[in-house]
Amino acid sequence: VSLTPKDIEYEILYRALTNMGNFFALNISLDPMVLEQNLVPLAHEWKHYNPRKPHIPRQGLSLTSLDGGYSGIPDLDSIREYNIDNGTNYDECSFRTPTEIFERGEAFKSLRPFFPHLGRSHLIRLNQGGYFPFHRDNVEVGIKTFRLIALLKNCGAGQFCFLYDNGRIFLEQGILYFLNTNIEHALMSFGPEATLLVLNVILSKDSVRLVMDSLKAK
Ligand SMILES: [Fe+2]
Repeated sequence: VSLTPKDIEYEILYRALTNMGNFFALNISLDPMVLEQNLVPLAHEWKHYNPRKPHIPRQGLSLTSLDGGYSGIPDLDSIREYNIDNGTNYDECSFRTPTEIFERGEAFKSLRPFFPHLGRSHLIRLNQGGYFPFHRDNVEVGIKTFRLIALLKNCGAGQFCFLYDNGRIFLEQGILYFLNTNIEHALMSFGPEATLLVLNVILSKDSVRLVMDSLKAK
């Protein structure tokens, strides 16, 4: 089976991003204090992240979902396993309806330029001992999305660890980064409520241009 023109376009767009590095900072930041305030009324909306792994203390709060709600079904589940069980065909591009906190929350204002390009996006909270084991996200030829992430709270070097491609990386809290998550990575928290933001951005010339226009170092 040969590559379609669309596969080739996606590959070139993804390559254009990784040509600038496997991870790099953007000039876009989020204020953890404002976020904290915005999240107060949603304290009960956090869902166990990937309910198939109940032993790992991880929670998620949907920023986009199928219907704009906070059920986490299936956007905070393992999409691959949910599809197998339910005969569905969801992917990172299927979850595009913003939740109210995302649309209205002051904390997310700086992300607005990306809104038209977002797929599955959420906050993740790792409690003490919470982790993601080594993995690669969405490895395929013609990958359709890329990841932007920010460490938001309790992710300092003494309580949180991001392992990436044989090493440990240190990302500045509150800063949005491009991160090539096709490279092997793992994370873990040694303290309570390490909170991070994960955005899946749908690849297009426009979304790649947005990243290029937002580089911290130009
Ligand atoms: Fe990942």
